[in-house]
Amino acid sequence: MSRLARGLAAATALAASLAFTHPAFAQDQAWADRTKSADARADAAVAAMTMDEKLTLVFGYFSTNAPWQTGGTKNFIFPKDGLPDAAGFVPGIPRLGIPNQYETDAGVGVATQRSPTPRLRTALPSGIATAATWNPERAFAGGAMIGNEAKLSGFNVQLAGGVDLLREPRNGRNFEYAGEDPLLAGIIDGNEIKGIQSNHIVSTMKHYAFNDQETNRNSVDVKIDDKAARESDLLAFQIAMETGDPGSVMCSYNRVNGDYACENDWLLNQVLKKDWGFKGYVMSDWGATHSTTEAAINGLDQESGWAFDHSPYFAGALREAVKDGHVSEGRLDDMAHRILYAMYAHGSVDDQVKGDQSATIDYAGHAKITQADSEESIVLLKNAGLLPVAKTAKKIVLIGSHADFGVLSGGGSSQVYAKDAKRFDGEGPDGFPGPLTYYASSPMKGLQARTTANITYVDGKDVKAAAAAAKGADLVIVFANQWTGESFDVPNLSLPDNQDALINAVATANKKTAVVLETGGPVLMPWLSKVGAVLEAWYPGTSGGEAIARVLTGEVNPSGHLPASFPASESQLPRATVDGDPKNEDGHPHSDYTIEGATVGYKWFDKKGLKPLFPFGYGLSYSTFGLARLDATPSGKGITAKFTIHNTGKSAGAEVAQVYISPAFDAGWEAPKRLGGFAKMSLNAAQLEQATVTVDPRLLATYDSASKTWTVAAGDYKVMLATSAADIVQTVTVHLDKQTLDVRGQ
Ligand code: BGC
Repeated sequence: MSRLARGLAAATALAASLAFTHPAFAQDQAWADRTKSADARADAAVAAMTMDEKLTLVFGYFSTNAPWQTGGTKNFIFPKDGLPDAAGFVPGIPRLGIPNQYETDAGVGVATQRSPTPRLRTALPSGIATAATWNPERAFAGGAMIGNEAKLSGFNVQLAGGVDLLREPRNGRNFEYAGEDPLLAGIIDGNEIKGIQSNHIVSTMKHYAFNDQETNRNSVDVKIDDKAARESDLLAFQIAMETGDPGSVMCSYNRVNGDYACENDWLLNQVLKKDWGFKGYVMSDWGATHSTTEAAINGLDQESGWAFDHSPYFAGALREAVKDGHVSEGRLDDMAHRILYAMYAHGSVDDQVKGDQSATIDYAGHAKITQADSEESIVLLKNAGLLPVAKTAKKIVLIGSHADFGVLSGGGSSQVYAKDAKRFDGEGPDGFPGPLTYYASSPMKGLQARTTANITYVDGKDVKAAAAAAKGADLVIVFANQWTGESFDVPNLSLPDNQDALINAVATANKKTAVVLETGGPVLMPWLSKVGAVLEAWYPGTSGGEAIARVLTGEVNPSGHLPASFPASESQLPRATVDGDPKNEDGHPHSDYTIEGATVGYKWFDKKGLKPLFPFGYGLSYSTFGLARLDATPSGKGITAKFTIHNTGKSAGAEVAQVYISPAFDAGWEAPKRLGGFAKMSLNAAQLEQATVTVDPRLLATYDSASKTWTVAAGDYKVMLATSAADIVQTVTVHLDKQTLDVRGQ
């Protein structure tokens, strides 16, 4: 053998041995080729990976020290390469150019786990507030903004996009979600996800699925049938997925029809991956993985937040399961492929995070984005001529909710900390989901900057003193709140801490009383007839005080509409109390969703003939609008509705026109009518424009589980133009032929 031939033989042998230990050497490195599809790149990368590397991708760590963690690892210390006080970390594979995954909560901005030195970032108004804008562009802009802050903070996975329907108004996390209607929630959340991912980072869509209560959230077993599920919460997720294309889906804590959501073949394999064609990966919620083989086989792709789980199921145990053949190698490849697919498809491999660049964040610009979101989300629920604040007002008294300092935020893992934000002594729990946080955006200062009136503040703790202070004022504004947060539901829908009595006493002392609510969702208002005006401001984010002041003074014309029905009493709800027992975390309660099925929110009120306090879709303006000239025709497989919106008032403003559909025959729907589409339009005084709304055929159909099809029954359908679910302005009838659509509504 010549020297050359010997050399070649030696080189070939070396290459073969390297290929064995380092398969990358044997590959064409297609994973690095940006001209190739995300699928092809993920295929090539997986083919080049060792089993250890694949296992690396499917196992995530909590990125925070957890000395309290006793489930599997006492005194858990977060991995050294993770970002501190963050939700999660998954190591990358440097030799294949695959970056670490740095995960952060959540839907209103870049959160920090409890820490004495939290990162200070911009907070959007709560998710339900953004849904109240009914403006997909606003949702996209907010998502793009918080995604930018995430990226510049070094994060490439944002755990945002809460789509669970507001089935249960007492749910402590309703503020993170987007209301009670599948179309509105899906469109708003889908756009937020799209905005986040426009920064070349991955967003989740969560908590999949039916995580509609916090009480016993780790064990509650939700019972619902396939048809009702697909026509309600799952439809919201499906629309959000189609709209936003999330890289990841976070499966939830609860069980559904007996199986934990994170090892639920029906939810993960059948519905999400097979029927809807989801190509990204399923990550577990923190502590929501309960097994190795079942979870892997039934569709979980990545265990999150170790050491929250009882055992590191997707570490050594998964290796054993693959070696023993309980989980196929093909399935492990699929898990890795899905994670990589999401990273390639959304740009987080090619445009990698560069560590902490937060000094370059445009906080001033972002303050405008969150403020605009908040301004558009505030819902004027009542106005007996008290608002906007009269220019002649000389004496204004503000009462309660630290309105001299700022605005409330919701609690839990989504908590964003912000400059000068504050917990007031003795308020809220010492531990999670606290701290009960107020953002330093003062409604009082906002009003002082805009009026010449003398404005004073009383804290409202002493009801008599507050009523005395209210007497004789030109305007009294009571700021009332309800703090909600992750891990607990509210016991009832009444404002806590004696605030109903406070409002009652103040309104008795002075008829010119307005109420500004900062709540996580619907509340009861026993004092409604006594007050002159009510604004629902939700948790309005880090510029919320300014937004409230601008709406109160009329600098901004309110245009928010309710994304959820406000019940007149709890007796109107499908269940008297939330199922389960908050005092017994080990209980395994059932929640029987077959009671209401897909008949959620306004659909329930309609079907039962109940009159809510304020209906879904409701919201006033300082202007008035006329909706008219409705024309509806079948188009494609759905309906197209055209109509005019006319600003008939004296000021510029925006109206949310809603189109509801109701079959004129028994089509087997879950409710008399469904929201089919909506259009928000800004108009100057006297301006008139035409709007067009198309109705997705799934919203005209019923789902058949056996054939996995949606069927639009032949017949006449009422198309109703409305300003809320209870305020129908005009109705026309359209005849539809029978249509059959596949499981994706095509
Ligand atoms: C929450 C998730 C969150 C995760 C990480 C869990 O407690 O349910 O929404 O993303 O923690 O912080």
